Amino acid sequence: GFDISKLLPQTGLVTLDNGFGNTAAYKSAITFVDGDNGILRYRGYPIEQLAGKGDFIETAYLLINGELPNSEQLAQFNREITQHTLLHEDVKRFFQGFPRDAHPMAMLSSVVGALSTFYPESHNPFDAAQRHLSTVRLLAKLPTIAAYAYKKAIGQPFVYPRNDLSYVENFLRMTFAVPAEDYELNPVIVNALDKLLILHADHEQNCSTSTVRLVGSSHANLFASISAGISALWGPLHGGANQAVLEMLESIQKDGGDVDAFITKVKNKEAGVKLMGFGHRVYKAFDPRAAQVKLLAHEVLGQLGKSDELLDIALKLEEHALKDDFFVSRKLYPNVDFYTGLIYRAMGFPTSMFTVLFALGRLPGWIAHWHEMINDPTSRIGRPRQIYTGTAIRDYVEIDAR
Ligand code: ACO
Repeated sequence: GFDISKLLPQTGLVTLDNGFGNTAAYKSAITFVDGDNGILRYRGYPIEQLAGKGDFIETAYLLINGELPNSEQLAQFNREITQHTLLHEDVKRFFQGFPRDAHPMAMLSSVVGALSTFYPESHNPFDAAQRHLSTVRLLAKLPTIAAYAYKKAIGQPFVYPRNDLSYVENFLRMTFAVPAEDYELNPVIVNALDKLLILHADHEQNCSTSTVRLVGSSHANLFASISAGISALWGPLHGGANQAVLEMLESIQKDGGDVDAFITKVKNKEAGVKLMGFGHRVYKAFDPRAAQVKLLAHEVLGQLGKSDELLDIALKLEEHALKDDFFVSRKLYPNVDFYTGLIYRAMGFPTSMFTVLFALGRLPGWIAHWHEMINDPTSRIGRPRQIYTGTAIRDYVEIDAR
């Protein structure tokens, strides 16, 4: 019997847009996505070119600064990052406190949030010099934090960063080297991981990037904003999908590899069953990152000489789904997460680390968006409206009368 019009005067005119399907929250000059034609460009450069010719740190510089660096600028950026790869020894104690089976994404977001306790000078987002320092610190330290999270889980000693190695080489060594044993970097893995990080580096207003912007819009510092972004990325509908895809493929394998039986479950909308790694809010033709990643999966598994039954299941699953009207009519295609897990697995990463690798890649994009917002004099605190659907008004009832 409640008349909603009674509430309208206080709400004013608002737009209800579930999941922000049509609402642009910001103007941005960083990344262009054309979902109908499968186009993705960072600062105007097609990702195929950046992933084919560039390296990850160059892409990070491009996203954050707007232009590709010349060789001197790139060398300087690399030098700055290299200087900050170590974690404060006290940060290491955080890892001792976490349970051994802690998910690495939980450790990642906690430790990144905790960095703001070590760098209180970073708290004013309008200090340009500090903004730059926080940027460099985050880019430098996230691989160290990620590798430590892995070492913690497997009970091995931490491996300190080595400053003569590239960003990706250093991360791989910190993750996989065992002290007192030789560790040889595999160029196939180094090259593939670098490409994957580039392909993940930005994707305009996705859930985690919007989170970084929303938190940062209150003028929270960069570490706090990025920590929130990492939490948003963790969910299986976003970055956590790469872990979920592999778990899905493993469960299909366990059930005898019958992809059609699995597709039937998805079509029947059995509780909680989705074709993970399929579908995208923006891409309605194909995800250009997925096309690159699929090629890379074949290349890397071939070069490493690893055959993987799960790759065969994934290929079959994709082929059958793309012929099925359920997926065709809903424009559901493989997204970036569909094949990445198979590559990470071939590289030796456990499933729980997959989303961490996504976070390493997405970091420059998050940082670029945070800077863009802080530098924009017209930016306002993010504060969505709502349509109130609760009880209009009622009188307080004493506890013994309820
Ligand atoms: N499997 C089965 N059905 C799906 C899938 C899927 N992967 N994705 C969408 N659908 C269906 C929905 O059930 C819905 O069907 P209906 O109209 O019969 O109800 C229709 O397709 C439209 O889907 P929405 O949920 O409205 O799409 P939305 O844009 O909200 O969600 C999302 C996009 C979250 C990516 C979704 O496709 C999904 O859950 N995919 C699986 C998880 C995944 O791979 N996430 C990674 C995304 S990419 C990234 O973050 C890097």
